[in-house]
Amino acid sequence: MRSLETVELTKSFGGVTAVDAATVAFQDGKVNALIGPNGSGKTTFFNCVTGMIRPDSGRASYRGQDITGKAPHRITRAGIGRSFQLCRVFPRMTVLDNLLVAVRAGGLKAQLTSARDRAEIARARGWLERMGIDHLERAEARNLSWGQQKLLELAGVMMGDPETILLDEPAGGVNPALLERIAGLVRQLNQEGRTFVIVEHNMDLVMGLSDHIVVFDRGRPIAEGPPSAIKSDPRVLEAYLGV
Ligand SMILES: Nc1ncnc2c1ncn2[C@@H]1O[C@H](COP(=O)(O)OP(=O)(O)O)[C@@H](O)[C@H]1O
Ligand SMILES: [Mg+2]
Repeated sequence: MRSLETVELTKSFGGVTAVDAATVAFQDGKVNALIGPNGSGKTTFFNCVTGMIRPDSGRASYRGQDITGKAPHRITRAGIGRSFQLCRVFPRMTVLDNLLVAVRAGGLKAQLTSARDRAEIARARGWLERMGIDHLERAEARNLSWGQQKLLELAGVMMGDPETILLDEPAGGVNPALLERIAGLVRQLNQEGRTFVIVEHNMDLVMGLSDHIVVFDRGRPIAEGPPSAIKSDPRVLEAYLGV
């Protein structure tokens, strides 16, 4: 099965070409990583393939279905979920309400009956438990640590039951214990059949977690392959690791 793919995807901001004719294919059922220096276009790439930004040109498809320029909710419905680099939670809402609103905002169930509501609450609690933050259900999201907020955001993504999950710097600013938990969750969810595409700077995490790595430099892929090949690729070492 084909996963998320782009052909010559391009997006400029004024004079800056953030994503530059990027042709990329991620592998279905795998943990994929998208790495590259700051400003190499990784977040813009995510924004283009999730409908947050309309690309200037090129195509994006998911499982063979064209998703170029589609609205975010349609891309969500096609099976792609995503997290944000700067983490999106509703700070003054409780942890549990954050998950319930995530489902409603996703347009999945606009009008919840009370029976459905109960089912959604049970499902939300299930995800909180898996994330290890179920004891915080009644806390306001703003009172959670940064790492806990990232877990909450991931739980919100999971409420949409995505087949493919795009994570933008899941480890950024997260303490080592929660980092381990996030890595473990990605592994488990992948074993359960979900595909990941992870933008991440923590190389130990990327190398330990990924099956397939795509390296961006100045808005386009310069290398791809398994961690073993990427680690020793001279183009990667030069562009990214600066050696
Ligand atoms: N909304 C925007 N307006 C103007 N320039 C942007 C915008 N978003 C990103 N850029 C620019 O596009 C380039 C790629 O940014 P980004 O996609 O955030 O890279 P990365 O996620 O790899 O760090 C950078 O030069 C950045 O300054
Ligand atoms: Mg970014």
